[in-house]
Amino acid sequence: MPIKLDINGKSVAVSAAPDTPLLWVLRDELLLTGTKYGCGVAQCGACTVHADGQAIRSCQAPVGSLAGVKITTIEGLGGEHPVQSAWVKLDVPQCGYCQSGQIMSATALLAKTPHPTDADIDAAMGGNLCRCGAYQRIRAAIKEAAQS
Ligand code: FES
Ligand code: FES
Repeated sequence: MPIKLDINGKSVAVSAAPDTPLLWVLRDELLLTGTKYGCGVAQCGACTVHADGQAIRSCQAPVGSLAGVKITTIEGLGGEHPVQSAWVKLDVPQCGYCQSGQIMSATALLAKTPHPTDADIDAAMGGNLCRCGAYQRIRAAIKEAAQS
């Protein structure tokens, strides 16, 4: 039986088994490939999306548990979100692979804490790894977005 999900403000019915991680439904069934696979075990943050505004690891979220939950992916930010503008202004990405997860964690942080301290940023972003080491630019872009 199809599972109904709310993705980026649209109601969609997906055919995946209830224990399928949301990440694979987003990428393979809905073709929302902005959400990335990094580790598959909730350790890297590449797959971060929002569930009712909270940053979650979609690699560890079974779709069967998400009926009635508002899911937002990087595509749902629309490209002109203040965090995305700050990312562009400060030229944050290097290879880019981790960046949609970084942005989803940053937007969830700023929605809850509009003027985060360094400690707030560390707490919210600590689970988002960047193999290119763009951490300083990520922090600066969060602060830039907080001012806009
Ligand atoms: S792919 Fe989900 S946390 Fe790494
Ligand atoms: S920009 Fe390359 S992994 Fe973060």
